[in-house]
Amino acid sequence: MATTTKRKEAILLSDQDFNTFSNPFDQFENWFEFIQGFEQEKQHTDSISTDIQPYIMTVATYNKETGFPNARNVLLKSFDKEGQKFVFFTNYESKKGNEIFSNDNKIALLFYWQSDLGGMQVRIQGIATKEDERKSDTYFKSRPVGSQIGATISKQSQILSSKQDLLDQFQTMMQSSQSNSIERPTNWGGVCIAPKRFEFWHSGQYRLADRIVYEWDSEHNSWNKYRVYP
Ligand SMILES: Cc1cc2nc3c(=O)[nH]c(=O)nc-3n(C[C@H](O)[C@H](O)[C@H](O)COP(=O)(O)O)c2cc1C
Repeated sequence: MATTTKRKEAILLSDQDFNTFSNPFDQFENWFEFIQGFEQEKQHTDSISTDIQPYIMTVATYNKETGFPNARNVLLKSFDKEGQKFVFFTNYESKKGNEIFSNDNKIALLFYWQSDLGGMQVRIQGIATKEDERKSDTYFKSRPVGSQIGATISKQSQILSSKQDLLDQFQTMMQSSQSNSIERPTNWGGVCIAPKRFEFWHSGQYRLADRIVYEWDSEHNSWNKYRVYP
């Protein structure tokens, strides 16, 4: 592909490149822009809609009662380098919401991207907080009415007796709210993750992958960076 040389530079996990990024958000931005560019190029050549793929991330939580970890995919809404946070939107009373907020707000995120330069994985551990209510309002209002209704009627993760029940609720609300604006339900909003640990993994021949870890050192207010065995 035409931009391969540029994209090769974007990996930046070799020993020579080790000092390029002392901040993991810069490294993340680099990879994210690289994979977005790759996906866009692929879309032009293959006409396959892949535009949301880079935004799919796995959210892992821990259920203190059952002792089981739990994982599911969500869409990354934003990655804020200045605010040093990742944001996704969900129902705070869902399984994931309950598990996050009953476990000292601990959460893990996982990204995997595949390109012609191999596989790239980013693992993140961090602390979650609820997004500022006004920001959640703004995002809620920006969504199509159908999605606003969907978020309002969904008691996410609770037992639903039939799909028809959900569709009926949707229709009822659609009709009743035709001219009225829909308020964001207070149990729906953004979850902001402040990372404490990142690991960047890039596949290598003979499974000699690169693994670079960044760990937040709260005593010195800085990131420690080191390489680990694959
Ligand atoms: C590609 C993809 C994107 C998704 N995006 C979201 C999302 O942004 N927010 C959300 O709450 N659920 C999203 N879901 C649904 C979740 O995977 C999950 O089913 C739901 O949040 C309930 O999870 P829980 O019961 O563990 O809380 C998405 C699913 C897929 C496959």
